[in-house]
Amino acid sequence: MMPYALSLSQKAKKEINSSYDFFIDRFIKIEAIKFKSVFERITCRDLQSFTITYKNFIAIDIDSYKESIEAIGNYLLGANHGYEIKVYAHKNKQVQLYFYKLPTKYGIDVSVFKPEKVFLGMGEKGLFYKDITRLDHNLTVAESGSGKSNFLQLKILNYIANYHYFKKIYMIDLKGGVELKRYEHLDKIEFVSDIQKLDVILDNVLLDLKETQQELLETNKRKLDSYIMILFDEIGAISVYPDKKLKESIFNKLALISMQGRASGILLDIYAQKIDAQVLSPAITNNLQTKVLGRTTSDYAINLLVDRKEFVRENITAIEVSDFSKGRFIYKNGDTSDKTLIQCPFIPDKLIEQFLHLDIKEFNYHLSTCKHL
Ligand SMILES: Nc1ncnc2c1ncn2[C@@H]1O[C@H](COP(=O)(O)OP(=O)(O)OP(=O)(O)O)[C@@H](O)[C@H]1O
Ligand SMILES: [Mg+2]
Repeated sequence: MMPYALSLSQKAKKEINSSYDFFIDRFIKIEAIKFKSVFERITCRDLQSFTITYKNFIAIDIDSYKESIEAIGNYLLGANHGYEIKVYAHKNKQVQLYFYKLPTKYGIDVSVFKPEKVFLGMGEKGLFYKDITRLDHNLTVAESGSGKSNFLQLKILNYIANYHYFKKIYMIDLKGGVELKRYEHLDKIEFVSDIQKLDVILDNVLLDLKETQQELLETNKRKLDSYIMILFDEIGAISVYPDKKLKESIFNKLALISMQGRASGILLDIYAQKIDAQVLSPAITNNLQTKVLGRTTSDYAINLLVDRKEFVRENITAIEVSDFSKGRFIYKNGDTSDKTLIQCPFIPDKLIEQFLHLDIKEFNYHLSTCKHL
């Protein structure tokens, strides 16, 4: 039973006398998570989770459960239990409390990559994927050292695993980093570390955009089957350049791509340590539909990416965003606006090396056989 003190009980009014009947939410069952496949059970061993179901004879008030979730967690598991808790309505007059703990650090191997899917990390229900046909513009904000570049590496590996979906991948690092340079020799990938060159490249992208728009108009097609990806590791590096004209020119082009690119399969994937109107104007951020928030102390970032009120109301996580571990993100899917807490795996150089020396055809075969596991 849930105690009175939590105020979850339902009162039934009696018609004749003025006394009340109280119905306390009654425990029904507890069960461990069921994985969809053996493969998933093996790879999700670091995800701890279980569900507890309660029933009330009258009705369960989901909102009061959500409001008291911290007290419920402490009552059931003791303080400092470390579980995330989600509340779901279930069947008739039932509520399910879903408890889960994401790992803080874990590794992966090539078997997590799937054809047509982008693997993004561990979510509340296990491995978390996005359909490759539903990619859109992305914005990831998290402070230095919180795992953005590592997350970007994970995405790149997914793209290589689904290489035929990409016409071209631009990798832009104006911070002088070399992490992305190692992909340069791959077909279809262009590494850019110079701001002048970036400006020229964006012109080419805009030409491509026009052409694709024209083609889509002429053929009356609406759906595209390949992407041009523009990956920016640290967008903040643009705003610190002294040449105002050049910056303006780049931002104007980015605004155009953010507005019109999606329908033509030209996508921006932008990473930033911090975000404000100077780093990236709302004309651009408003068009980046999928938003990913990692460790930050900035209210501007939190509100821009997930909205503080939603964040609390939807019980996305019990952990403060400022205390997120490396690779912990709130992933807001631009398609559905669903917000999922994910933990990105650690991507060691060894795994990247494996991908760099991959025979794509053989790998695709490997992926297609993995699918049936
Ligand atoms: N998901 C993860 N799990 C465990 N460790 C991680 C994870 N992601 C990153 N790290 C560790 O943290 C370090 C910093 O990560 P990363 O370079 O991705 O941060 P960043 O957000 O890109 O920082 P910056 O903004 O300074 O570029 C990495 O070298 C790695 O060792
Ligand atoms: Mg980085």
